[in-house]
Amino acid sequence: MARAAVVAGLGAWAPPTVVTNEQLAGELDTTDEWIRSRTGISERRWVGPGQSTGDLAVEAGRRALASAGTAGVDAVVLATSSPDRPCPATAPEVAARLGLGPVAAFDVAAVCTGFVYALGTGAGLISLGAADSVLVIGADAFSTLLAPDDRSTRVIFGDGGGAVVLRAGSPTEAGALTGLALGSDGTLGDLIEVPAGGSRQRSTGLPAKTEDTWFTMRGQAVYAQAVRRMAQTVRDTARRAGWAPAEVDSFVLHQANTRILTAVARRLELPPERFLNAIALRGNTVAASIPLALADGAASGALRPGHKVLLAGFGGGLTWGSVALVWPRLHRPPASSSATATPRPSRAPAQRP
Ligand code: COA
Repeated sequence: MARAAVVAGLGAWAPPTVVTNEQLAGELDTTDEWIRSRTGISERRWVGPGQSTGDLAVEAGRRALASAGTAGVDAVVLATSSPDRPCPATAPEVAARLGLGPVAAFDVAAVCTGFVYALGTGAGLISLGAADSVLVIGADAFSTLLAPDDRSTRVIFGDGGGAVVLRAGSPTEAGALTGLALGSDGTLGDLIEVPAGGSRQRSTGLPAKTEDTWFTMRGQAVYAQAVRRMAQTVRDTARRAGWAPAEVDSFVLHQANTRILTAVARRLELPPERFLNAIALRGNTVAASIPLALADGAASGALRPGHKVLLAGFGGGLTWGSVALVWPRLHRPPASSSATATPRPSRAPAQRP
């Protein structure tokens, strides 16, 4: 029988510094009401001075390893678009800090779809026999990319990390990943970008303009693409997994915005209660959003062993992707933050239509 990649551990971590809507309203021309009504976000966590994506990844990775009951893996795949440095990748240092030895370690950059791409990459290593276990992490400190005076991006993003341990197993057991679907459309790459800092700008020999060093997003166009692409990738993965979308107990989509989750549910003609929503206390945490939502959902009981769960991401590139699994019985991951209690996602028990 084919080897499958099976989720064996889960962990997440968000930095302790809470940034509320009220705090942002004190600094920018915005209001708590605008932010809540447009995004569903009431607060987010941001890294403090000197903290990095690698720090978030290490804490999330440590918790996932503890949940899996293991001290070692054969590879580390880190999804991030805010690496500690432009070069080298952040994953090797994360692996070293976790004491994992000379294992394969590399970054995957697919912005908010990064975790799904990284799951696919980790599952590929396992199915090839190149690894028996892989630590897959999604971590971003996106607050470090936001212009201090840009109200349109500053209110949306939070920082965090989330991780799973994949191990080799059977396609028929709970936790086995199935139905992976990935896609991209590079013709729309400038809808979400940091224009400067890469080879295209550096090869000019001119210093970057300050405004080009910050993250930019064309919000309305991104919104429309996010709804369309996530609904389609959900359908693709459900078909590949042999499930009807209506059979899925919990959809864990990229946590961009409550209105996007509601619009995807409407497009799929499914009850919005089945779409796990952990946005209010997290914001959009980019590559960390799906594993953080998984950890929040597992902690609150919204995700239960035996549930059919479908993960779907969408982000810059543009990129999108999804994967399905039957939720396994996991050791409870340690709390996802050192400062406050783990936030509880607002999700009603799954209901059939
Ligand atoms: N507070 C108050 N007003 C704000 C604001 C803020 N934080 N940010 C933007 N605005 C203003 C805009 O300047 C604009 O003003 P104008 O009409 O005078 O020009 C107005 O609000 C409407 O802006 P618009 O961009 O049309 O708002 P929107 O309803 O589309 O909501 C987003 C903006 C960003 C919340 C929405 O487009 C969105 O969610 N997009 C998807 C973003 C996302 O999730 N990206 C990640 C995907 S990976």
